[in-house]
Amino acid sequence: MSQAKVPAGLDRKEAEIYLRLDPERLPQHIAIIMDGNGRWAHRRHLPRIAGHRAGVASVRSTVETAARVGIPAVTLYAFSEENWKKRPATEVGFLMTLLCRYLKQEVPTLDRNNIRLEYIGRQHELPPQVRERMQWAREATAKNTGMVLTLALNYSARSELVDAFNSLVKAAASNGGIDHLLVDEDSIARNLYTRHLPDPDLVIRTSGEMRLSNFLLWQLAYAEIYVTPTLWPDFRGQHLLEAIAEYQKRERRYGGLVNPHHGNGAVTHNNGKH
Ligand code: FPP
Repeated sequence: MSQAKVPAGLDRKEAEIYLRLDPERLPQHIAIIMDGNGRWAHRRHLPRIAGHRAGVASVRSTVETAARVGIPAVTLYAFSEENWKKRPATEVGFLMTLLCRYLKQEVPTLDRNNIRLEYIGRQHELPPQVRERMQWAREATAKNTGMVLTLALNYSARSELVDAFNSLVKAAASNGGIDHLLVDEDSIARNLYTRHLPDPDLVIRTSGEMRLSNFLLWQLAYAEIYVTPTLWPDFRGQHLLEAIAEYQKRERRYGGLVNPHHGNGAVTHNNGKH
């Protein structure tokens, strides 16, 4: 076990887990459904917002560790379109304030880790002061060339597909009409909010729920799913590395057959049969 292999900045526990990983087979994009803030607060007899506040430290630790070990892209489900309608206005307001504060405070940390910030979701429906702060943070980190951190804000996978189909139809209409409508997997993927990203290899959901909750439904078609009982405010970089270790034990098939001669992870393609 050579210490030289451990990236700078990992703590002892993270370094221990990292040394069990194969650095050649890291997931290229990890999507995370951050869940359990309310339950975390409830267990401590605190208001729900205390859980969200505590969740910011989890975001910081997870994002920094991902960047340190060289994950190219992380996408966090911070706020769904449904959250607007189904949560009390005071909680929604608090989440917006927390986001603005996070963006202001974290830009130096993002810079230090060479992280570029992006967003997915219907941004035009967010309050103007939130949009301004988002734009500022995106521009402030635009020069960074390392990990891409994408925040899903006011995001819904179904709305994303609706928006993608509408932009395909619009493009066809302004380019000679319906005969020029080209709908295939590539044209849809090019019109998704995630056109700047590869599909996630791994999706993590905290707090034990077994749902995708309208998150990246198209892009997660072949992702490995990792559900942990850990509540989001208790999640740290070491938990991310544990999820990656579990991912590396899985055998990915993409609809193909397992090739018995190549051991774990090897796949032979079967022309699209699942
Ligand atoms: C789910 O917990 C969490 C959210 C809806 C919000 C996530 C927000 C943060 C982690 C903090 C801010 C984020 C950023 C990017 C700065 P829940 O309230 O649904 O928990 P419950 O299911 O236990 O009620």
